[in-house]
Amino acid sequence: MKETSADGQTAVQDKSMQYVIPRVTPDFRMRRMRATAPLRAMVRETHLRVEQLIYPFFIVEGSGIRKPISSMPGIYQQSIDEMLKEAQEAVALGLKSVLLFGIPNQKDSQATQAWHSQGIVQQAIRALKSNFPDLVVVADTCLCEYMDHGHCGIVHQGQVLNDPSLEILARAAVAQAEAGADIIAPSDMMDGRIAAIRAALDANGYENIPIMAYSAKFASALYGPFREAAESAPQFGDRTSYQMDSANAREAMREIEQDIAEGADMVMVKPALPYLDLISEARYMTKLPIAAYNVSGEYSMVKAAAANGWIDERRVVLECLTGIVRAGADLIITYHAKDVAQWLK
Ligand code: PBG
Ligand code: ZN
Repeated sequence: MKETSADGQTAVQDKSMQYVIPRVTPDFRMRRMRATAPLRAMVRETHLRVEQLIYPFFIVEGSGIRKPISSMPGIYQQSIDEMLKEAQEAVALGLKSVLLFGIPNQKDSQATQAWHSQGIVQQAIRALKSNFPDLVVVADTCLCEYMDHGHCGIVHQGQVLNDPSLEILARAAVAQAEAGADIIAPSDMMDGRIAAIRAALDANGYENIPIMAYSAKFASALYGPFREAAESAPQFGDRTSYQMDSANAREAMREIEQDIAEGADMVMVKPALPYLDLISEARYMTKLPIAAYNVSGEYSMVKAAAANGWIDERRVVLECLTGIVRAGADLIITYHAKDVAQWLK
C-alpha cells in the first residue's frame, strides 16, 4: 500500500513484510517420502484388507422378500432365498464373513424364536453353510429381535433381569452352533453371559466354536437405523441399564477384561468411530483379536452426506475404515463391506 512518510516521500510498504522470516533449512523433510504415489505406497503403514470385513444380513421369514431399509440405502431385510443371492455376490467380491440378524414373525416374552431349532437365523445358518461351506458365518446372539418388548433380556415388572436371561442366551448360542454357525457373537450386555455361553457350548460338544464378545458395547444413538432394520426397538425405556455409558473408558476396559476372563476368543468395541481411543487402549491391553462395529448410524451418516454430494463416499469410507484398523482393530463389521471389497479389488 502507498503511504506518505514524515519527510514527504512516498514509500511502498507491505504489511506482511513487517516480520522478518529467518531463512531455515529443515533437518528433516517429511515431504521427501510423500513426493510420489509409489513412494507413498511404499511407506504406507496401515492396509485395509477384504479379509478383515464382516458383512451383516437381516433375515426375514418367507420367500422372495427384499425390502429396503430406508435409513440404510443398499441394505435390505431379506428372506433366505434372497440372502443366498446376496451371499453369492459377497463371496464373488472376496468377502469371507457375514453376520446374521433374524427378524421372526412371532415375538414373545421368552424369545422362543432365538433358540428354536427352526428359528429364522438357525434356518439361515443352515442354508448359508450348505451353499457356502467356506464362508465364516457369525451369529449375533441376542434376544431383543425375538422379544415382544424389544429388550435384550427377560423382563419382569419393568426390569431387565440378568441371571434368568443367561440361560436363554446360552440356549440360543447352542441352537446357532447346532445349525452350523462358525462364531457366536453375544451382543446383549448381560453380566456373565460369556461364561454361561462358553459352558453351554462346551457341554453340548461345541468346545471348538469361538465366541466374539460384544464387550464394550455402548448405549448409543447410532443404533437408530439398525432398530428399523431389525425391528428391535425397546417398547419401553431404553438400554442404559445394560449397555455402557459412552463417557466411560475405564469401565470399558473392565468389560473387556471380564469377557476375556470368562473365555472370550475375540472382543469388540461398538460403535467404532466415536470410540477409537478405546480400540487403541484395548489393543495395548490384550493380545486377542479385536473387532470394531462400524454401526448403522455411522453408515447412514456417510450415505446421507454422499447422496447429497457433500462428500466423496469412497474416500470417506476408506479413510474411516483405515482409521479403525490404524487404531488397532483386526476385524470390522460394516455395512460398507461389499463396496469396500469392490474398491480394494
Ligand atoms: C442387538 C444389536 C444392536 C446392534 C447390534 N446388535 C442394537 C441394539 O443394541 O440396540 C446395533 C448394530 C448397528 O447399529 O448397526 N443387541
Ligand atoms: Zn439385543
